[in-house]
Amino acid sequence: MNSAHGEAVGSAAMENLLTVDDAERLAEKTLPPDAWSYVQGGAGDERTLRWNREAFSQFRLRPRVLVDVSAVTTETTVLGTPVSMPVLVAPMAFQQIAHEEGELAMARGAAAASTLMCLSTVATATPRDVAAAAPGAPRWLQIYVFRDREVSDQVIAEALEAGFSALVLTADLPVYGIRHREARTGFEAPEGVVPAIVAARARGGDAEGHHSLDLLESGLEWDYVAELRERWNVPVIVKGLVTAEDAELACAHGAAGVVVSNHGGRQLDGAIASLEALPEVVDAVAGRAEVYLDGGVRRGTDVVMALALGARAVLVGRPAMYGLAFGGEKGVRQVLEILRDETENALALLGCRSPAEVTRAHVSTIGSP
Ligand SMILES: Cc1cc2nc3c(=O)[nH]c(=O)nc-3n(C[C@H](O)[C@H](O)[C@H](O)COP(=O)(O)O)c2cc1C
Repeated sequence: MNSAHGEAVGSAAMENLLTVDDAERLAEKTLPPDAWSYVQGGAGDERTLRWNREAFSQFRLRPRVLVDVSAVTTETTVLGTPVSMPVLVAPMAFQQIAHEEGELAMARGAAAASTLMCLSTVATATPRDVAAAAPGAPRWLQIYVFRDREVSDQVIAEALEAGFSALVLTADLPVYGIRHREARTGFEAPEGVVPAIVAARARGGDAEGHHSLDLLESGLEWDYVAELRERWNVPVIVKGLVTAEDAELACAHGAAGVVVSNHGGRQLDGAIASLEALPEVVDAVAGRAEVYLDGGVRRGTDVVMALALGARAVLVGRPAMYGLAFGGEKGVRQVLEILRDETENALALLGCRSPAEVTRAHVSTIGSP
């Protein structure tokens, strides 16, 4: 899709790619304005979107020296699944708007970097096709619940059959955030190529012309977490909480993991930055579930800071989409490898040989000892 728009990004530009910010610039050149507004934008005045980045400047790393770091590994596990680094690919809708191969290229890129991809419910490919694109790679399925539960059940059943190993229930989109950038560019969801939405419409879901997210349930409550777990017998991760209170509820309802997230600043503007919320969630969870973080991670030093504050791993959204936009599978792989290399470097300079060696003592808040 992108080939018809924007500037072609040559391989020389791709080879000069050193940072995630470089990837962002390439992606912006590649994508048409409406797709870019969807990928890049946030809700309201985009304060939470900015705070997600700025929060990484509220903490300082406390490196330890004269530690033998001649052998450093970034490898870790998430819910027992080995991954090459504590960096996973966040669920993102409609990936064909960034690249014609969409989620299939994202899956191959994540697999090439030996890490896990979380597929969105509103993907432009089916779970079965994503699994076939990169056989054997680790994958989770993100859940938006359709008001017509049969549609969600079909997506879940297909994904579990195809080897997806956990369900990630997104809790912070009971309604869609107010996103002015999308409104200004006239962005429209590519509904016709989203199998779950096509299925929901075919079953008579909602009148024509409604926003596709009107097909989703906005009445979910905590008992649905336990219901999901009991019905499908797989680990359930709750994504999109930023308070100790909700972390407690997630644990009480049997969540195996939580993702501290404000949806990349795309939902409630003014909500606390995810990194800022991480310590209270980690304290509330108290080891009962794995804690992940997303929002604003752009550097290996961001990754180790999140680990130091108690995250087991982070997810990246937009950075992976930037890679997909300018380079398909190869671009995704390049971005993930930049993050892996930077994380390895940060671990070594922090005096840690593995993610497991990073502790709360490796970080301080500004002004505190
Ligand atoms: C283009 C785009 C689409 C997204 N679609 C979904 C989605 O379908 N489901 C979901 O749970 N989160 C979705 N998110 C949120 C991401 O999973 C993640 O929380 C967020 O992007 C993290 O922030 P970051 O982009 O700064 O890394 C989306 C984010 C972006 C940028």
